[in-house]
Amino acid sequence: MKVTVVGAGAVGASCAEYIAMKDFASEVVLVDIKEGFAEGKAMDLMQTASLNGFDTKITGTTGDYSKTAGSKVAVITSGIPRKPGMTREELIGINAGIVKEVTENLVKHSPDVIIIVVSNPMDTMAYLVHKTSGLPKERIIGMGGALDSARFKYRLAEALESPISDVDGMVIAAHSDTGMLPLFSKATRNGVPVSEFLTDEQKASVIEETKVGGATLTKLLGTSAWYAPGAAVSVMVQSILCDQKKMIPCSLMLDGEYGQSDICLGVPAIIGKNGVEKIVNITLTEEEQAKFAEAAKAVRDVNGDLKV
Ligand code: NAI
Repeated sequence: MKVTVVGAGAVGASCAEYIAMKDFASEVVLVDIKEGFAEGKAMDLMQTASLNGFDTKITGTTGDYSKTAGSKVAVITSGIPRKPGMTREELIGINAGIVKEVTENLVKHSPDVIIIVVSNPMDTMAYLVHKTSGLPKERIIGMGGALDSARFKYRLAEALESPISDVDGMVIAAHSDTGMLPLFSKATRNGVPVSEFLTDEQKASVIEETKVGGATLTKLLGTSAWYAPGAAVSVMVQSILCDQKKMIPCSLMLDGEYGQSDICLGVPAIIGKNGVEKIVNITLTEEEQAKFAEAAKAVRDVNGDLKV
C-alpha cells in the first residue's frame, strides 16, 4: 500500500525512513515544494535500501500530486517548524495556508485517503483539515499524543532509573507546552502505579519536563526535533496499514467525548485499517478533567484565528 508524506524536511524524511526500515508499505511518495528536494531525499533513502534490507520503494516529486494518487495514508509535515523561544501557536499564519492547499491536493488524487496531520499548531491544523477536506472524521488523525507519550515514558524511566520497556504512560489533551496532560495517575512500572516509587517533587519534575519536551529540544537543536516525531508517525501509519488496532493517543474531532465537541484534542483511540476505529473513554480524576477543559479552551482560542 502507498503512503504519501508531504514535506520532505526533517520530520517528513525521518518518518519516510522509519516507514521504509520497517518494510510494511509498498511505496512512500515524498512531496515537497522546494525544487528537487523530495527527489533528492528519496534517492538518498533508496540508496540505503540494500544496506538496511528493505524493499519499500521511495520516490520524490516537486509538487506533482498525480504521483500520490491512490494513497492509503498521507502524512502532512509541510510548513515551518518553530525556532528557540517560539510557541507552536505562533506558526499558524504560515502553516494554515500550506496545510489547506496540501489537503485539497491530496484529497483530489486520493479520495479514500486517511490523513495524519503533523504540522503545528497541530490540534488546530487537524481541525482545519476537518473543516476543509470533506473527509469523514475517522479519516483525519492528528499526531501529538504518540510523541508526547514517548517523551513522558522517557522522563518516567529516567526518574525511576528503570528500563523504558518497564514503564507505561500516556499524554492526552493539547499538543502545546501548556495544554499537554501527562496522565500521571495512570502511569505504571510493570503494572504498579509509579506514584509508589516517586516523590511529589520527582512527579512534578517528570510532568514539567514532558510538557516542555519539544521546547527543550528546540533550544538544543535550533529547530524542532525529528527522530521521535518521525518514529511516532511511523507507528501510526503501521497501525493503519497492518490493521494492528493499537491504542494510540491522537488529536481527533470530538463529538461529546470528554465533554467536548467541535474541537480536535488528544484522546486515546484504536487505530486500524479504517483510521479511527474507536475513541476510548478513560476515567479522569477531577484535576485531570479540569486540565483537559482548560486545554480545550486554549485550543478553541487558537482555532478562532482560522478563517474557516
Ligand atoms: P522542515 O522545515 O525541516 O520541513 C518542512 C518542509 O515542508 C520543507 O522541506 C518545506 O520545503 C516543505 N514545504 C513547505 N511548504 C510546502 C508546500 N506547500 N508543499 C509541500 N511542501 C512544503 O520542518 P520540520 O522540522 O520537518 O517540521 C515540519 C512541521 O512539523 C512543523 O510545522 C513542525 O512544527 C511540525 N512538527 C510537529 C510535531 C508534532 O508532534 N505534531 C513534531 C515535530 C514537528
